Amino acid sequence: MTLLAILQYPDPRLKTVAAPVEDVHAPGTKTMISDMLETLEKTEHCGGLAATQLDIAHPQQIFVFYDYDEADPEKRTPMVVINPKIIKTEGTVLEEEGCMSVHPNHIQAKITRPAFTTIEALDSQGLHMELTRGGYLAKLFVHEIDHLEGKVFIDHLKPLKRKMVDEKIKKVLKLKSLQEKNA
Ligand code: NI
Repeated sequence: MTLLAILQYPDPRLKTVAAPVEDVHAPGTKTMISDMLETLEKTEHCGGLAATQLDIAHPQQIFVFYDYDEADPEKRTPMVVINPKIIKTEGTVLEEEGCMSVHPNHIQAKITRPAFTTIEALDSQGLHMELTRGGYLAKLFVHEIDHLEGKVFIDHLKPLKRKMVDEKIKKVLKLKSLQEKNA
């Protein structure tokens, strides 16, 4: 298993549109899945990761996330989602969002997302599944599917707000490069 690097905005690879998985049992796909699970497990404060935000040569339509019951958030299960499609959403929420690929400790912005999201997908065995989640996971599903379509959350911002966030990112990048120089 390999720990994968998480791409950082504005890495152009974040715009990659993932190819659908043809065969969940193909060796390349199985390796991708186990590397993604390992990366999820070893990345602190990370709820989910999409193939297109990781250092993978030919990312496929796969995301991994921690599933949990809101009644017992401590107990969480890593899940693999393949070729996901949103089949239903309900309601909307406007809440702060961040991303492991958009300078996670520095950049957050309010984004409108569904209150409930239902997706259909394949699991790691290739079996069809349908998942409906509310709260954080309802937002996570659409956030990860955006990644697989080459989008990051700040792409949803209106131009003026986006400009402000881009300015902030420039400052963060400058700060990071200074820190690297001094390290
Ligand atoms: Ni993200």
